[in-house]
Amino acid sequence: MAHHTPPLLLMLLLCTLSVNSSFQPTLVLEMAKILLENYCFPENLVGMEEAIRQAINSGEILQISDRKTLASVLTNGVQGALNDPRLTVSYEPNFVPVMPQMLPSLPIEQLIWLVRNSVKLDILDNNVGYLRMDRIIGEETATKLGSLLRDNIWDKVAHTSSLILDLRYSTAGELSGVPFIISYFSDSEPLIHIDAVYDRPSNTTKELWTMPSIMGERYGKKKDLIILTSKRTMGAAEAVAYTLKNLKRAITVGERSAGGSVKVQKIRIPQSEFYITVPVARSVSPITGHSWEVSGVSPTVNVLAKEAVAKAKSLLAVRSGIPKVLQSIADVIRRFYVFTDRVPALLQYLQSTDFFSVISEEDLAVRLNQDLQTVSEDPRLIIKCMQDNAAILEEDPELYNIPDDLESLKKLVDTTIKVEILLNNTGYLRIDKFVKSYAGTKLEELMAKKVWEPLKDTNNLIIDLRYNTGGSSTSLALILSYLQDTSQKRNFFTIYDQIQNTTTEYDSLPQIAGPTYGSKRGVYVLTSYNTASTGEEFAYLVQSLHRGTVIGEITSGTLMHSKTFQIEGMAIAITVPFINFVDNNGECWLGGGVVPDAIGLAEEPLKVNFDL
Ligand SMILES: *[C@@H]1O[C@H](CO)[C@@H](O)[C@H](O)[C@H]1NC(C)=O
Ligand SMILES: *[C@@H]1O[C@H](CO)[C@@H](O)[C@H](O)[C@H]1NC(C)=O
Ligand SMILES: *[C@@H]1O[C@H](CO)[C@@H](O)[C@H](O)[C@H]1NC(C)=O
Repeated sequence: MAHHTPPLLLMLLLCTLSVNSSFQPTLVLEMAKILLENYCFPENLVGMEEAIRQAINSGEILQISDRKTLASVLTNGVQGALNDPRLTVSYEPNFVPVMPQMLPSLPIEQLIWLVRNSVKLDILDNNVGYLRMDRIIGEETATKLGSLLRDNIWDKVAHTSSLILDLRYSTAGELSGVPFIISYFSDSEPLIHIDAVYDRPSNTTKELWTMPSIMGERYGKKKDLIILTSKRTMGAAEAVAYTLKNLKRAITVGERSAGGSVKVQKIRIPQSEFYITVPVARSVSPITGHSWEVSGVSPTVNVLAKEAVAKAKSLLAVRSGIPKVLQSIADVIRRFYVFTDRVPALLQYLQSTDFFSVISEEDLAVRLNQDLQTVSEDPRLIIKCMQDNAAILEEDPELYNIPDDLESLKKLVDTTIKVEILLNNTGYLRIDKFVKSYAGTKLEELMAKKVWEPLKDTNNLIIDLRYNTGGSSTSLALILSYLQDTSQKRNFFTIYDQIQNTTTEYDSLPQIAGPTYGSKRGVYVLTSYNTASTGEEFAYLVQSLHRGTVIGEITSGTLMHSKTFQIEGMAIAITVPFINFVDNNGECWLGGGVVPDAIGLAEEPLKVNFDL
């Protein structure tokens, strides 16, 4: 509620009054007095009475003859001035006040009948409870009915696995019943301050707290709770929905609620047949500092009221899968994640985090992805929601095994490797795929003949990886060995494989077939954004070994040294790096493309850098 300065209130009241004529200034004064004694935002009224009195004395108030018109003029004035749509003035010569029936005073049979008609409990599939409450039963009534409510409602609800609390038709009830419901869905400790209700006529504030003990079993705060609301949901039911939503204890599904009030009274303006309707009490939630009054409770998941039950059921189905997803992810991380030092923190996170707000698989995937990347500081640890069961792409180096017969092997070498001598005696070696290789094999001899013999007298060497899409890492050491002095043993890189539980060191080979290229002549590696996988590793190693200059575009960045696992029965997949690729400086491969020493378009480098 906006706070207004009293002169503004007065101006608005009086300006609207001065339109036309005929009434007693006492009516305005009496109305002001009622507001001062009853309106639940007294701070907005400071100075009002004195201001009105002065205005009357200076003769500013004009006369209005028609009483209905006067009532609506007064309503506009007071609403405009206090910015509260609940304040209304009416002219009702025949108004008969109805005393609201006090429930607790009813005979017990009637109370039982009333509760039977306003509460309905069903147990749905998968032990999902469905509790529809059309009235929030006040404390006194609840005490009277005691064990009846416990046996027929709360104890039965307590044995369900999750609950849909339907408040879509809840338009009546008492605020005094709210603490029990909140307590039922909370733990006994700590006590929670759930509401502060200020009553203006008595100038007292009543604090509502959860209860240290309640009759019967509690539902507790672990099991899923979904509250359904509609635009008719009003009053105490709004307090229930608002509090449990903001305590992050319930997900609310449906429509924004009505936005009722704690207590509104229609008060007669003395010596007249005018009435003023005034909110006399207000609720402030200590959890939010605000209230459900007037503005209502906005749903976590916004759907039409008539679709809310179906939505709640599907939501519960997703949520019931969460523990299994977390367990599967924990298992995958424990078994396969190569940064073992980061595993405990990740498992701890999965165990301790509350996935309260998760309302869809996608939601869960986004949340897990963000949080796991933050905890691990590893952008390669990825959790994704896979629509339409998209196929998982795997890197499979075994595809590039050496064929057994010499003919096929020759063919493989011919299709993947191209050698030329360019102008000014520049050697050119294009490798489109790294074939799996070991020293001393036929392949090595073939390569010596096809590659190293023709290139041996060139001034410098261009290695073109612009069309390289990967292959086996095993041949990296072989090729790098040709670019070293054979006299010196050198470690090129190390691969730790968490799945195989193996550590493999890749060093320069002591003996190689054919002529070596040595460490002195220039080596230029060409890359493009298509250069992928092992091609990227080669470029990366040429840089870390300071054995050449990488020229061209940033590589594809597709090599993650990781494996993707789909969580069974879910559209969620986790990608875990399981290989540690460590260069000779002890640096780990962290994914992402290799950045060339000289960046340029892939088509250009030969022309720009070599004038070819
Ligand atoms: C309401 O009570 C408080 C103390 O509890 C007092 O300071 C204040 O003046 C009272 N207000 C009115 C309008 O009586
Ligand atoms: C040819 O190669 C030599 C030796 O590497 C170099 O000095 C010269 O600048 C090159 N010429 C051209 C046109 O690139
Ligand atoms: C991995 O291998 C090492 C020895 O190389 C062994 O001590 C360790 O227990 C193995 N770990 C697993 C999980 O098999």
